[in-house]
Amino acid sequence: MQLRAEGVSVVIDGKPVLDSVSVQAEPGRMLVLAGKSGSGKTTLLNVLGLLRRVDTGTVLVGDQNATKWNDARRRRFWRDHVAFVFQDYGLIEESSVEYNVTVGRRGILGLRPAQRERVNQVLSHVLLSGRGKEQTARLSGGEKQRVGLARAMFRGADIVLADEPTASLDRKNRELVINFLIEEARRGATVVVATHDEDLMDAGDDLIRLGEQPAPEPSAVER
Ligand SMILES: Nc1ncnc2c1ncn2[C@@H]1O[C@H](COP(=O)(O)OP(=O)(O)O)[C@@H](O)[C@H]1O
Ligand SMILES: [Mg+2]
Repeated sequence: MQLRAEGVSVVIDGKPVLDSVSVQAEPGRMLVLAGKSGSGKTTLLNVLGLLRRVDTGTVLVGDQNATKWNDARRRRFWRDHVAFVFQDYGLIEESSVEYNVTVGRRGILGLRPAQRERVNQVLSHVLLSGRGKEQTARLSGGEKQRVGLARAMFRGADIVLADEPTASLDRKNRELVINFLIEEARRGATVVVATHDEDLMDAGDDLIRLGEQPAPEPSAVER
């Protein structure tokens, strides 16, 4: 499913955070939103994920104009299509790791054996084998983020949105996260990542740098 922002502007407290930005994220590709801290990466990611409304411009989901979708419609979009890998968003701290991985996907009788097997598989993939019953609040920041990844894997979402997914991780876990995002794009997901990690930028298929003015044209005088 394609995600597109067209001429999007966002003003926060009178300050233009995004100024007429256009960007397109495609199925099967990883789009990297780069730029220094405060350049609007998280804001643009939130715009593409319909977590934040725009002041001007248009946001498209597939061929639909999603700019004015109401809460119910946006919730349906999140539930059916999106996996968020955010540090401070979307985990239910009081619940178990396992619950967070499968939330929204369990029936009234709980997990079927095949689903249980799949949970174990994704947890082992993010190096959290055997941690399914632990309370999420007890995990470290990096471990919580990997729960977010495990949930994205479990869901097999069409759209994966990740905010600084390699920040504060050691080398081994950074590689794990980067490889996961590459694999998600390879299986056909639309992947959008906000980051200032150079390795992650290199792994992307498309790159947009925020907060940078285009180089000025050389003037006639200088020539
Ligand atoms: N909820 C908010 N309230 C006030 N200012 C905000 C808020 N969200 C973002 N900003 C401001 O918008 C700018 C861009 O923020 P952000 O999108 O988080 O940038 P990045 O992710 O690139 O660091 C920053 O100057 C930040 O202070
Ligand atoms: Mg940010």
